Amino acid sequence: MDIEIQCVADEAAVAGAAAELFARQAQTAVNERGQCFVALSGGSTPQRTYDRLAIAPFLEGIPWAEIEFFWADERPVAADHPESNYRLARERLLEAVGTNRSRIHRMPADQADLDAAAAIYQGEIARAFAVAPDGPPPAFDLIMLGMGVDGHTASLFPHTQALKPTARWVVANDVPALGAKRMTMTPALINRGRCVTFLVQGAEKAKRLAEVVEGPLDIEALPSQLIRPESGRLVWLVDRAAAARLSGRARGPVRAKLEGTR
Ligand code: 6PG
Repeated sequence: MDIEIQCVADEAAVAGAAAELFARQAQTAVNERGQCFVALSGGSTPQRTYDRLAIAPFLEGIPWAEIEFFWADERPVAADHPESNYRLARERLLEAVGTNRSRIHRMPADQADLDAAAAIYQGEIARAFAVAPDGPPPAFDLIMLGMGVDGHTASLFPHTQALKPTARWVVANDVPALGAKRMTMTPALINRGRCVTFLVQGAEKAKRLAEVVEGPLDIEALPSQLIRPESGRLVWLVDRAAAARLSGRARGPVRAKLEGTR
């Protein structure tokens, strides 16, 4: 697995690069397989990407009607809660592009029994892909992730149970640091992705980004290091502030360290 690190000027450029990657992956998937499966993350970083995708040229240029939307993780809140990753994407992207409700697969992390809800969501993924729910994980065409300042991604937080190897595609994860349980896709599912991209911006993430990409493996402390697509692409879309501590010696072959501004 090669690592692609695309360093762009600033947050706006990260959003532009992410929108372009989304468009390319979606068109390729639809051309090759007639549909596209996307998993979205939450947090603040993807907001600008959603806003860019919801306007020209992306609004017209992407085969939205053929895209199935899932979430890589979700907070234990209702669908209309301000902290809901689902609500963020629905309001900033899905309503604008007119995605049919049947293609929007909200992660039900607000259920009382989160373990059971995770199994149900895994079944929903299996049905959408028309595969067995207890078989090998399917391959999403694009999985968009963020990285926390603590090195977590999705809801794979340091020193939590969800970091342990599992055949499950989706699990509930108790996060003591948050005092909450969350639902998250597992590395087993994420690493089957055809293209997995991290959107990372801001100086506050520079130290951790360098540790994750260039430092020694320490997956308990740096869960983002668990994301190593088996055969797909791993693309880091980072702004200059977040890339400030990168020395250019990524662990593993860096296929492209593209400097560029958008
Ligand atoms: C979540 C996200 C989480 C996020 C990182 C980065 O539910 O919070 O899925 O993994 O991507 O915490 O968040 P920011 O983009 O806000 O820095």
